[in-house]
Amino acid sequence: MAKQFSGNVFDKVQDEQRQGEVYTLEATAAGKKKMYLESYGCQMNFSDSEIVASIMAENNYVPTTALEEADVVFINTCSIRENAEQKVRGRLQVFRQHKKLKPDMTIGVLGCMAERLKSKLLEQEKLVDLVVGPDAYKDLPNLLSQVESGQPAVNVLLSREETYADITPVRLGGNGILAFVTIMRGCDNMCSFCVVPFTRGRERSRDAHSIIEECRDLWQRGYKEVTLLGQNVDSYHYTAADGSENVNFAQLLALVAQIDPGLRVRFSTSHPKDITDEVLHTMAAYHNICKNIHLPVQSGNTEVLKRMNRTYDRAWYLNRVEAIRRILPDCAITSDVIAGFCGETEEQHQDTLSIMELSGYTMSFMFKYSERPGTLAARKFEDDVPEEVKSRRLQEIIDLQGKLSLLSNEQDVGKTFEVLVEGPSRKSDEHFCGRNSQNKMIVFPKGNTQAGQYVKVKVERCTQATLLGNLVD
Ligand code: SAH
Ligand code: SF4
Ligand code: F3S
Repeated sequence: MAKQFSGNVFDKVQDEQRQGEVYTLEATAAGKKKMYLESYGCQMNFSDSEIVASIMAENNYVPTTALEEADVVFINTCSIRENAEQKVRGRLQVFRQHKKLKPDMTIGVLGCMAERLKSKLLEQEKLVDLVVGPDAYKDLPNLLSQVESGQPAVNVLLSREETYADITPVRLGGNGILAFVTIMRGCDNMCSFCVVPFTRGRERSRDAHSIIEECRDLWQRGYKEVTLLGQNVDSYHYTAADGSENVNFAQLLALVAQIDPGLRVRFSTSHPKDITDEVLHTMAAYHNICKNIHLPVQSGNTEVLKRMNRTYDRAWYLNRVEAIRRILPDCAITSDVIAGFCGETEEQHQDTLSIMELSGYTMSFMFKYSERPGTLAARKFEDDVPEEVKSRRLQEIIDLQGKLSLLSNEQDVGKTFEVLVEGPSRKSDEHFCGRNSQNKMIVFPKGNTQAGQYVKVKVERCTQATLLGNLVD
């Protein structure tokens, strides 16, 4: 999903005036240059954009939402599926038109596509000036100087250490209530379909102290919910340089939850092979750790899971679901599902449908398999499920998820939930919306409530996507 940020970083920008440079009148008056930043891909990429905005703010740039007035245009990209890259190529064509009118505009490609395609992007997309991979954002000021001196610039070095722990992200486009905090980077799993290990490099965990500091600071600034992010949060492990401290994911969760009972804690993504009972018990022990686990299954068939190199089988996955039900009876489980992976038979597809039912997902992200160059699957297996079969299977998965979501929502009618108010509902100014612990969206007449407050809402009816209710005392 594409999202355009429009956050305000004025409070972070130093007041120093730049001299002898001609920008738009507005930018000259403020002594700032303007950066337009568009982001694609997963939540971690959006989180990275907040790091980029912070680095740029320190270097005299303010964000703008007006492409035509930007001095620098950044696009933070995703490579996860072919269509994600197509979208970015489409946007680069649009930027190209703007650059024709404003030749001194710098166009930079950041993120996973930058990492995957490296300097090919400079060669193929002639008007790209800058290519920067996910571990090289601290080098942006140097790279921009290089571009200013007339040289295209590339830095796609991956790091084993970089976690940007020392950079305070500029919160972009948010509502001041919810924030995302990256706790680790990279991925050491080698799921055969996945490009992430190539674009994001080796897994590394961020210093637990810096995570807790960031969450505490957010709480003190009025934020009410933090989501801890990583490709595989259950393998989080921080060890102090002198070996004196060890923090695993369950311990980190507890430490963040202890900041204040009023601070909600969420996390994503859990890998079925790594999620421990210790994590589940920690969730049970803290009311403010939200009862929702994103536990992507990908496929419900053991043979397919093996070819995917997911390192768990159907029985293991169902055992984890059973543990969640036992330890956290009111916990929602959500998933990612891939339709039509290499060699998938009709029967194997049926196993995916049945595991979805057995797990009772409240929501899923559902995709057609898209072969990614260089991955294990691209090298070893044929992408042999015909397009129309992939589409039909995906549709069956989507239809089933629709039924499961509705069923789960119907079971909530009559129940009362604690809801963190996020703001006006999309459809009506008279209504607010917010989420319950299970991450379900609830819409209700706003009464005297305000965004950022916790309220109790009794659910009266539902659709597939939303619960509708009324405030109760
Ligand atoms: N780290 C997370 C997933 C990150 S990518 C995990 O392990 O679950 C997000 C989702 O994109 C994946 O869960 C998968 O469902 C989907 N995905 C990844 N590569 C894909 C591909 N080549 N084709 C289709 N979907 C893909
Ligand atoms: Fe990709 Fe697998 Fe790592 Fe998730 S765990 S990012 S799917 S390699
Ligand atoms: Fe896409 Fe990179 Fe995230 S490939 S899903 S932006 S880690």
